[in-house]
Amino acid sequence: MSEDLEARIEAAVKKPRNLGEMADADAVGTVGSPDCGDMLRMWIKFKEEDGRKVIDRATFQSFGCQTAIAVASVATELLAGKTIAEAKSMTGEELAAPLGALPPVRIHCAQLVEGALRNALAEDKDSAPPQAPASTSPTLMDQLAAGTAAKVKIVMRSDDHRQPRSS
Ligand code: FES
Repeated sequence: MSEDLEARIEAAVKKPRNLGEMADADAVGTVGSPDCGDMLRMWIKFKEEDGRKVIDRATFQSFGCQTAIAVASVATELLAGKTIAEAKSMTGEELAAPLGALPPVRIHCAQLVEGALRNALAEDKDSAPPQAPASTSPTLMDQLAAGTAAKVKIVMRSDDHRQPRSS
């Protein structure tokens, strides 16, 4: 990993943006990586802007590595003002772009953030009855203990030297 990238990740971890639960969130997504065991939850609040439903703000909590925290920090900044379709089309690499290109072994950390975002924006949640307020939902720690978070399938790239764990 380049020194520049390490410095940007370190800076983002020292002063993460949009960290913490959002009590009045409209959507919540939680994912866990079966490969590394890390978990991430994202809260999203929408607003109307010029007749469009856009993301007003996004926050996150993570039991994850520093890269996942740094990506979530910059991603929650990037998401403000995006429509659901625009947000859904963003890849982990795009969400991590403000940090710079991630090395192959760290791509899955950005995919964890992408997974939490997609889980929060999942179509079936749109037609589901309103969820319990985020503040009374199971905590990330509860879901970690219960193993009930959505799982993100991490696809290892051919140039990734890390071997996925067999399940
Ligand atoms: Fe698992 Fe980074 S090592 S998300």
